[in-house]
Amino acid sequence: MMNAVPAPPDRPHNALDLEDALDASLVRFPAAELTRSVRTLIKRYREGFDPSAPVLSSEVAVAAYAGYRMPATHSAVRAALRQVALLAPGFAPATQVDVGGGTGSAVWAASEVWPTLRTVTVLEQSPSAIAFGRRLAGRAPAAAVREARWQQAVVDRGVPVPAADLVTMSYVLGELPPAVQEDLVGAAARQAGMLVIVEPGTPAGYARIAAARRLLTGLGLHLVAPCPHDGECPIIPDRDWCHFAVRLNRTALHRRIKDGTLSFEDEKFSYIAASARPWPRARNRILRHPLKRKGLVTLRLCTAEDGLADHTVSKRQGETYREARDVVWGDAWP
Ligand SMILES: C[S@@+](CC[C@H](N)C(=O)[O-])C[C@H]1O[C@@H](n2cnc3c(N)ncnc32)[C@H](O)[C@@H]1O
Repeated sequence: MMNAVPAPPDRPHNALDLEDALDASLVRFPAAELTRSVRTLIKRYREGFDPSAPVLSSEVAVAAYAGYRMPATHSAVRAALRQVALLAPGFAPATQVDVGGGTGSAVWAASEVWPTLRTVTVLEQSPSAIAFGRRLAGRAPAAAVREARWQQAVVDRGVPVPAADLVTMSYVLGELPPAVQEDLVGAAARQAGMLVIVEPGTPAGYARIAAARRLLTGLGLHLVAPCPHDGECPIIPDRDWCHFAVRLNRTALHRRIKDGTLSFEDEKFSYIAASARPWPRARNRILRHPLKRKGLVTLRLCTAEDGLADHTVSKRQGETYREARDVVWGDAWP
């Protein structure tokens, strides 16, 4: 693993941010066809699907996924990784393996958070997703993304995960049978300096994160984020679920293919980050939008020692109050 040195300015003059790179990559697909494919994808995600029938099976299905979901999964993963980076400022990964990488949202996100990344490998089952992801990555600002190795692989029980400083699995577990999920999390845990798993911020997504969390602590890994402790999660299943949200702008194309009218969307996500070595942890994690009233801010917290707790900060507390006014759902407190 490299030390935390700033990466050389290797951004080529024609590099694009993900949003613009997507617009440029999707322009060759007729918008009506993308819209139709997006509707099919939404239906399949809502109804659940048979893992033996891959969702990203055609070029247009992949393009629709990239236009409709990739901005949101990219924003969610980046938000989770940023929390990890805040707690582990000395973590400077040089290598990343992204399992079930799809069109590459987690590799774009990781390179934005850690410019130290040099060698990136994406494991993905769909050749169409690989083809799209590789083309898209050619426009990325970070050399590690442009030069990423895309490997076609079906992740299954007993399939080894290559060792890396950072292993990411973003919105993948839900597409795998439970036994494979368990095997995969275990295999990744043994090979990762830092393992970050992100799932949709739904009760089902959180349940998969909670199961992974139990497995990771059982294997002796140290939780880094979002949890302030390695003990049992204090959230009672069926009553609540641990999740966060990130707001992202929708581009014109995004709005058209998604039948959306709003200029933004909120992506809800659950995540867990664990490491082979301990890092400083948040003392508390903010689990809801802070409730702001005149002179008071109430924070719903997951605490290191007292489970879930509501904590009210008043204007009389000066600097602490000003800090409480600035924090957002998902931040560490204080
Ligand atoms: C919902 S997409 C998420 C893609 C990407 N990680 C993201 O966050 O946008 C799930 C991806 O996992 C891939 N996948 C599902 N099962 C897989 C398996 N057994 N082996 C490899 N890839 C798999 C799918 O092909 C798809 O690209």
